[in-house]
Amino acid sequence: MTKDKNLNIDWGTLPFGYHPTDYNIRSLYKDGKWGKPEVSDSEYIPVHIAATGLHYGQEAFEGLKAYRGADGKVRLFRWQENAKRMQRSADGIMMAEVPEELFGAMIKTAVKLNSRFIPPYGTGATLYVRPLLFGIGPQIGVKPAREYMFLVLVTPVGPYFKEGFHPVSVEIVRDYDRAAPLGTGYIKVGGNYAAGMRASERAHQGGFASVLFLDAIEKKYIDEAGPANFFGVKNNTYITPKSHTILPSITNMSIEQIAKDMGLSTERRQVPVEELDTFEEAGACGTAAIISPIKKIVDRDTGKVYKYGDEPGPVSTKLYHQLRGIQEGTEEDKHGWTEVIEGV
Ligand code: PLP
Ligand code: COI
Repeated sequence: MTKDKNLNIDWGTLPFGYHPTDYNIRSLYKDGKWGKPEVSDSEYIPVHIAATGLHYGQEAFEGLKAYRGADGKVRLFRWQENAKRMQRSADGIMMAEVPEELFGAMIKTAVKLNSRFIPPYGTGATLYVRPLLFGIGPQIGVKPAREYMFLVLVTPVGPYFKEGFHPVSVEIVRDYDRAAPLGTGYIKVGGNYAAGMRASERAHQGGFASVLFLDAIEKKYIDEAGPANFFGVKNNTYITPKSHTILPSITNMSIEQIAKDMGLSTERRQVPVEELDTFEEAGACGTAAIISPIKKIVDRDTGKVYKYGDEPGPVSTKLYHQLRGIQEGTEEDKHGWTEVIEGV
């Protein structure tokens, strides 16, 4: 896409995709320390031909959103959790860690500099913030780089699943794993997404919004969807899988707390595939997916179909509105999860 600096965006139909904005911001790690962040208006980066990020997958990213509230203010949601998760990702694949203060300063600057791309309240669109960390220094032996780039880009997005808050269909697969039992599923590194791509594309072609991966050892328990965690609801209980191979979702842990605040019980434990039959509601959750109710889960191997109704269930609906309300400043933020970005 060529860089179109003129705003001509139909916010209400915006897909979850890349749209160019005015600026991104970068910092380089060299000689053991992070350099002063630099603002760039280029969509390209100079990368060494032997960079470890290209050759050996030394790359991690984050995803969070800036929300325009009903009161006109712009809020970030629990960005410190994204900073901590990126540190865990860096630690997991031996990259330099980005200090939380640098992470915070750079995401806020990126949002401010691109404020004209923050979608208006009520359109369902938001400004997606994508921090990216990768090995930029050269190695040909398999070793960590000595130099890293931390970059923050932003792009306005609509809901990840084009259905928005309307139930989607997902497909259980057993012939692909997104993460190995002792691999990198618990951190947000690019390799996990590459590993899941074949299964995801096949699912899309089959008319499914996403794949539902199972545990890689026994294929007995639900792990997570391609880009989001999974949850089920029954008997006033919010249930979500516990597994070392899933990404600890910030949205999911927030929804668990909201569920508790609403008087529901919560359980984080292994969820056997057969239990799908017993749920009253099911859904996927994440920053991009928000809460996407699931209407149908099809087991690709057995042909079994689990159905949850064509309309969002009452619990998912309440959780969704409460979460969005906190993010958009229309519900009380009693846990102090949001931060208003001043001067936007
Ligand atoms: N699971 C995977 C594999 C993801 O890519 C994401 C998105 O970040 C999530 C879950 C949801 O995590 P979060 O709620 O922190 O965005
Ligand atoms: C997110 O929810 O922010 C994600 O990163 C999911 C997907 C776009 C990879």
